[in-house]
Amino acid sequence: MRKLWIIAGLAAAMAVLHACKKETTTAPPPEVYNPTAKTITVPQYVINYLGEMPQPGDNPLTEEGVSLGRKLFYDKMLSNDRTMACATCHKQENGFDDFRQFSQGTNGAFGDRNAMPIINLGWADAFFWDGRRSTLEGQAHDPVTNPIEMANTWPEVVTRLQSHAEYPALFFKAFGTRTVDSNLVVKALAQFERTMVSFNTRFDKYFYQNDATALNASEQRGLMLFTGDALCNTCHMMNTLFTDHAFRNNGLDVNPADNGLMKFTGKADDRGKFKVPGLRNIAQTAPYMHDGRFATLEDVVNFYSSGVKQTSPNIDEHMPPFGNGLNLTAQDKADLVAFLKTLSDQEFLARKDLSDPN
Ligand code: HEC
Ligand code: HEC
Repeated sequence: MRKLWIIAGLAAAMAVLHACKKETTTAPPPEVYNPTAKTITVPQYVINYLGEMPQPGDNPLTEEGVSLGRKLFYDKMLSNDRTMACATCHKQENGFDDFRQFSQGTNGAFGDRNAMPIINLGWADAFFWDGRRSTLEGQAHDPVTNPIEMANTWPEVVTRLQSHAEYPALFFKAFGTRTVDSNLVVKALAQFERTMVSFNTRFDKYFYQNDATALNASEQRGLMLFTGDALCNTCHMMNTLFTDHAFRNNGLDVNPADNGLMKFTGKADDRGKFKVPGLRNIAQTAPYMHDGRFATLEDVVNFYSSGVKQTSPNIDEHMPPFGNGLNLTAQDKADLVAFLKTLSDQEFLARKDLSDPN
């Protein structure tokens, strides 16, 4: 009996060997383009407020597209001297933001704006502090050729990716063609960015999931101030994103050095207006404001309490009460900061599928 088993085993092993041998001698099967649709899971209350995340008709999310975008986001090959990736200035542990006041390009020069976090941007329709791009795809074109960022040219990027050992096959899997071009690169990057969704915080548990114990007393008072006397939610709207996606002047300067939205529109009425940023993971995305002038959340709250310049050009209609001073007490300020810190999503900041795949 035992002998029989051994013979049967041997025969099976030989059959497998034979099959393997056969495999290597025949031509590989033709590649099939068959991407898998990817869905982004967000809590139902987010969909109730915002609707499903909009998807451009010509760039639907697929597993293969997102995975290619992730590889590209972390690939230093995109920069002229191969030292800088998107992730160099957009670090996951900092909410895909830069902890430096001004990012430094490959040529050593510094920009004059603070980098922006990449969080829940799938619902946004204006990008950069001055809103000069209207899609994530369009946005992703710019850093690659920006002389104070990656300082590369698109033909050079395409040549490098085309002659790479892995990329042409990955482009085929994602888009059905081995021919790399810049539009496919930015499509993949945008797909990956759309998966950067963050809603798993203590604030969400408290506010949307009715867990009364998720915030302590100070944090709860901070939330009351945020939506009440401190008027923060008139612009950082409680629509799950903490931004109304508008461009507004919150009164930082009497004479703004950076014209903000006016740089893009050319209209004097837009001078000093900047994109209202979302506030999720705000404790991780210091420094703050378009020029990174504030190092801490305490500095930000002090500014809103007593530093607003009411004579700033085109100051927002919601700002007048601030100009007269919000008169926040030390306790109020501490409560507001404590509340802002409950917007951190530890799962997002460490999510494996958003990390460097290499
Ligand atoms: C040298 C640092 C640097 C690199 C590299 C870089 N960025 Fe940025 N990013 C910035 C800065 C600074 C801004 C804000 C610039 C402005 O408003 O003019 C920004 C803005 C953005 C925004 C706009 C966010 C919003 O809320 O409007 C997105 C999205 C973004 N970057 C994605 C990328 C992608 C994708 C790459 C790689 C292709 C990349 N960045 C490479 C520094 C960098
Ligand atoms: C008039 C609308 C408005 C109101 C009201 C407002 N903000 Fe802002 N907030 C903005 C704008 C616009 C910016 C970006 C300004 C810039 O960089 O020039 C900003 C920036 C911030 C930032 C920095 C974000 C970053 O990524 O750098 C924080 C934090 C912040 N606000 C918190 C608050 C708090 C707390 C309150 C209430 C005390 C408040 N805001 C009230 C419009 C507003």
